[in-house]
Amino acid sequence: MSPFPNNLAEAIEWLSSYGAVPDGGVTRTLYSKPWKEAQQVLKEWMEELGLQTSYDPIGNLFGRLASKDSMAPTILVGSHIDTVLSGGKYDGAYGILAGILALKHFKEHQGHPKVNLEVVSLCEEEGSRFPIACWGSGMMTGIYCIQDINGFRDSEGICFEQAMKEAGFGIGEQPDVVRSDISAFVELHIEQGPSLERLQKSIGIVQSIVGQKRFRITVKGEPNHVGTTLMKWRKDALLGAVTMIHDLYGLTKEYDEDFVTTVGQLFVEPNVPNVIPGQVEFTVDARHPVNSVLSIFCEQFKRQFLEIAQKLGLEIGIEIWHNVQPVQMDAKLQQIVQTICINSNISYHVMNSGAGHDSQLFARMCPTALVFVPSQGGISHSPSEYTSNHDLETGLSVLIQLLHRLAYK
Ligand code: GLV
Ligand code: MN
Ligand code: MN
Repeated sequence: MSPFPNNLAEAIEWLSSYGAVPDGGVTRTLYSKPWKEAQQVLKEWMEELGLQTSYDPIGNLFGRLASKDSMAPTILVGSHIDTVLSGGKYDGAYGILAGILALKHFKEHQGHPKVNLEVVSLCEEEGSRFPIACWGSGMMTGIYCIQDINGFRDSEGICFEQAMKEAGFGIGEQPDVVRSDISAFVELHIEQGPSLERLQKSIGIVQSIVGQKRFRITVKGEPNHVGTTLMKWRKDALLGAVTMIHDLYGLTKEYDEDFVTTVGQLFVEPNVPNVIPGQVEFTVDARHPVNSVLSIFCEQFKRQFLEIAQKLGLEIGIEIWHNVQPVQMDAKLQQIVQTICINSNISYHVMNSGAGHDSQLFARMCPTALVFVPSQGGISHSPSEYTSNHDLETGLSVLIQLLHRLAYK
């Protein structure tokens, strides 16, 4: 194992070696071997820094700098350890590593806080292994329960429960993960879009996070011989899926420019050149800041999909597996971050987030702050994801000042 890091830049590189893939990206999906190793190495580092560590029953990892007041609530700071497939080094990791370094700073320079300060490495946010996103924060906030994973399998057929158990978690009947002592959640994250860079601002103060709905669409036709089945006799599931996807994007363009939809995953069966596709499964991810607009859109595209299926003689199943409403971040915390930026001469921009975050779930439970630093070229969920050390350090200094204000004053 490489030595524990001394600063943010080293920490980002160090953590990215757990799950590093040849294209320069990081693949660290929930409960996988690199995921487990990364959680474990973070735990060891937290312990070396003198934080009290613990896992909850599903694998969220905590490092605590305790208050002397045993009745004091807890301010939680952190983000998620999992990545998309071949993702970047910064998404999620930055918020955890900055949280650890902030607590290190307080331990060395400030002593016991008035309230408990805890850094969390949340076990899952992306939804890239199983069809559930924000599993870690969803369980902590009581928005999800353990039954929500029933029947989930990854692309290799491994069931969620088995993966969790193999990683050493999910043992026992109904793991109780909900925390009732959290008085605030603070997440520092890369922007994942181009606004801050284009506006030449160092900090993004998030006002609201868009709503998100994700669906799994299953289109069933009839696999058959490609040479002997005339075009008019076919029930081609892929033709159906392609027509639906084309219509979906057409419909999206009829809405305002904040409306975004994506088909990011598609499985064709049997996926061979000389068999008419018998079944296609694909995902739809739809996002917008206004929930009613998002709902109307989803009803509309579902109607259109059904019509297409009927016209082509196909069967269709539409299942929603992720449904998060738009949420506002805490106004008072936004104000504090703004004051910190003004007093420290740091440029800032008040903005919305088009990406989903664990903050979205915590905001339903406690005052929550989401703070961004710029992403070079607005690129994220890619090996090219990059934020300069200077910007990372600026974010950390704002985080330290915010936590100091909340936990020591
Ligand atoms: C998470 O990164 C998401 O917005 O999909
Ligand atoms: Mn993230
Ligand atoms: Mn992400």
